[in-house]
Order: sequence, then C-alpha cells, then structure tokens
Amino acid sequence: MGWGPSAKAHHHDGGRVEAPVTLRGYLLCVFAAFGGILFGFDSGYINGVLAMNYFKQTFGTPATDSNAYHGLNIKTSDKSLIVSILSAGTFFGALFSGWLADRIGRRTTIIAGCIVFSIGVVLQVASTGVGLLVGGRVIAGIGVGFVSAIIILYMSEVAPRAVRGAIVSGYQFFITIGLLLAAVVDNSMSNDLTSASYRVPMGLQFLWALILGVGLFCLPESPRWYVKKDRLEDAARALSTLRGQPQGSEYVREELNELVANHHYERQLMASTWADCFKGGWKPSGNFRRVILGIAMQMMQQWTGVNFIFYYGSTFFGQIGVTNGFLVGMITTAVNVGSTPLSFWAIEKMGRRSLLIYGAVGMAISEFIIAIVGTAAEGSKAAGYVMIVFTCIYIFFFASTWGPAAWVVIGEIFPLPIRAKGVALATASNWFWNFVIGYITPYMVDEDKGNLRTKVFWVWGATCTACIFFSYFMVSETKGLSLEQVDLMLEETRPSNSAKWVPRATYAEREQHMATEEKAAGLGVEHRDAV
Ligand code: BGC
Repeated sequence: MGWGPSAKAHHHDGGRVEAPVTLRGYLLCVFAAFGGILFGFDSGYINGVLAMNYFKQTFGTPATDSNAYHGLNIKTSDKSLIVSILSAGTFFGALFSGWLADRIGRRTTIIAGCIVFSIGVVLQVASTGVGLLVGGRVIAGIGVGFVSAIIILYMSEVAPRAVRGAIVSGYQFFITIGLLLAAVVDNSMSNDLTSASYRVPMGLQFLWALILGVGLFCLPESPRWYVKKDRLEDAARALSTLRGQPQGSEYVREELNELVANHHYERQLMASTWADCFKGGWKPSGNFRRVILGIAMQMMQQWTGVNFIFYYGSTFFGQIGVTNGFLVGMITTAVNVGSTPLSFWAIEKMGRRSLLIYGAVGMAISEFIIAIVGTAAEGSKAAGYVMIVFTCIYIFFFASTWGPAAWVVIGEIFPLPIRAKGVALATASNWFWNFVIGYITPYMVDEDKGNLRTKVFWVWGATCTACIFFSYFMVSETKGLSLEQVDLMLEETRPSNSAKWVPRATYAEREQHMATEEKAAGLGVEHRDAV
C-alpha cells in the first residue's frame, strides 16, 4: 500500500476519532431499535390468529381435520399464502428502500415505511376475506421492508463504534419483544368469538408505527448520509447531537474529518449504483464478495430454522402429541426475549465471528438431539419433554448469537457508497428466505402433506451445520472498528486472521499523507478494544 505511518503522535490514536459514549447519546442511537417491534409483531401475530376459531369461521373453507371449527378451517394453500405473503412485500420493500435511503435519507425512508405500513394495517383490519387480508399484508410488508433494512443502516451509521454491536442487537431485542407481545395478545383474544379476536392484534400494529415514526421525526439524520450528499454543516450538527458534544469540539471535527476522508477515498474507487454492488471480485474487500456475504448471512440466519418454531411451533407441537402446543409457543417466545440481552455483552466481548461460530455449533447440536430423540421414541412423553427442553436450548443459542449478529454484520460490512443498497439486498434476502421457508413448511409437516413430524429437525440440524462452516470461512471480525476501519481491515486480512487486525491510521491521516507525500515514520499500533 502506498501510504505509511505519520509521525504525528496525537493522530495515531484511532480511539480519538469518536467522542466518549454518553448515556444520552446511547439512548438516541438505540431509539430506532424500537422498530424491531414492527418486524416481530407483524410476523408473529399471524401464528395465533390462524388458530382462532372466529378466524377459521370467517376466513375458512369446509374441512374435516381435527383442528377444524364447526367444519371450517383455513386450507393449507391459504395458510401458506397469508403467512408468507408478508415476506413477499417485505422483500420488494427492502430492495426498493436501498435506493430510496440514498435519495431521501435514512431517517425519512424509515418514516415513509411507517406510513406505508399503516395503510396495510388499515386494510388488514377491514378484511373479512382472504383477498383483502392478503393485500393488506403485502402493503404492510412493503412498509416493514423499508423499516427493517433502513433501521439497520441508520443504527449502524449513527452508533458509536465501541457499542455499535450492542446497539444494533437492541433491534433484535425489540423483534423478540414484538413476537412475544403478539403471542400474548393472540392468547388473550383467542377465546373471543367476535371479529375483535383478529382485529385487535391487527390494529395494534398501528401503534408501533406511530411511536416509531413520531420518535424518528425528532432524531437527527445519519451524519454519514449528509457526508455522502456533501452537506457537511448538517453532518456536523447531526454528529454534535448524537455524540453530545459541541459542534466545534475536537471530537466532532475529528469524526467528521474521518467520514469525509473515507468518503473521498471510496468515491475514487466506486460509484453508488446497483452495478457497483457487484464489482470488485472475490477478495474480502471486493464489493461483490461483501454483497454475497450479506445476502448469504441473512439466508443462513433463516436456514437456522428459527421461524419453524415461531411461525408453526404451536401447531407443530400440538400435532406431535404435546398437549399444550400453544403454551410451548409462549415458552419459546419468552426464552427468545430472555436470551437476547446476553448478546449485548457477548457481541462486543467475543466479537461477531466467534459468536456466530459458537452459536451455530450450539444450535446444530440441539437440533440433532431433537431429531434423534424424536425419531427413536416419537409419541412418548419423555421424547416430548426432551424436545421441548432442547427447542428452548436451541432458541437460547439463536437469540444470543445468530439472531442479533446477522443484523450487526450486515450493518458493518459495506463501504458507504453501496452501504444502503448492500444492507437492502441482505435484508431482502432475509425476507426472501423467510418467505420460502414459511411457504414450504406446511407442505413438509402437515398431516395430509409431507408429514415429516420430528424428522424435520434433521433438516434444521444439517442447515445449522452449514452455518458453522459459513461463519468460519466467510465472516470477518468487525468488532470495535469504525465503519471506515472495517474497509481497511477487509483490504488487509482474510476472515480467519481478521480478528487480529488493528487499525494503524485513520483515513484523514491517509489522505493527508497522500497529499503531502511525507516520508513514512513509525506509527503507533492501536488496540481494537480501546475506546
Ligand atoms: C429473524 C426473524 C426471526 C426472529 C426471531 C430475526 O433476527 O430475522 O426471522 O423471526 O429473529 O427472534
């Protein structure tokens, strides 16, 4: 590389580029995490609603199976469509939002997502037939697509680097709370025999959109977006609010200098088009490799099989003879909420890469144990208990590792020119695979279809094993680095030795150095954990 260390002692400290993290700054950055509720509640409430008697009576067709109510039930094809159509909307919403967030800003795109989402909610509440319900879920889905992709982008861009992993994990925490709330609301409405049974869970979604939209309206736009748009005054103002430091302070100036220098550097290398996302080849720093990593990361997160438990868990456990399938659903959802906060600490302590490897090992073992016990002794009481316990252990591993880390990683791996589009592509992949798995699951496990029963856990065990290899060979360690340092790290390392990399200089120094062509002198080595 044609640039060397600078002799300026006070500039070699990568940690000086950002202000110390204040509680206020932390809370400002973490607010957007609330948007996870939209994601969790929206994808979660449908599970319980499908099992409601009034819903079966209103939306069902004649059926003879044991779950039918007054001879009516939701047919497999309608069930698949109602559940998975949301992800189809979110897929397109997420993709489109990558373009929109570069044009109108990150914050504005999220607010727009809340508005679109609310329109979808109105249609869902108004529906009394599958057609309108499906339409409402597509539109709400588009809104969730905007929100789910751009919140990750926004949070990664506004968060101080030392706590970025923890802050983005907060988003996952709200997803889990959304899922839990949905289960609780569904449960409390499940015996109601009026249209309120399904309209209350549907209508509540409106509240989440309102809180998120109004709250974000009061927060600053991402300083990195302002830099991208050459609005440096606005960038300084946003940084000053986010970091709780005066606009003219050294912290704000240094951080801004770094963002600007990085942007100049990246701009020489690439533009911001969709085509640029696929350039650069297979080296770890190539855009193509990073985009594939993001897309595959979210694909693998879905292939852990987690949504098999959350979308179909209640029905599935009922089917294999566990008396209270619904209760099991509540327990797994609660374990999901309870285990996620562990990641706030672990993701900064162990790092993203190790956490993913360790989580995948834990999940694979749990899935195989369920598969073995289920295959050997299906139907016995003991097997039922073992399955419930290991399902909970599996969820513990997912919630404390892959759940949050997949989102953290996609927020960190892209260079600014293509970051919005990269995050959008990765999020769209999450929803695409969410859709595929949501769609095929009933065909794998329903009694009159594949009827795989517990054998379906062999599938999830195998896919979790693939997650171990994927994390080992593909994921680089991004912990403790600024988003700009991540670019340098990817240029200089491979995934397996990435955790050892330490930043040697800032982009501002690099730019200055290139301009003056000073002679290289000894530059200090910074430790990654230093704040
Ligand atoms: C996943 C969702 C899943 C949820 C469970 C998220 O990170 O993307 O598909 O339902 O975690 O907590």
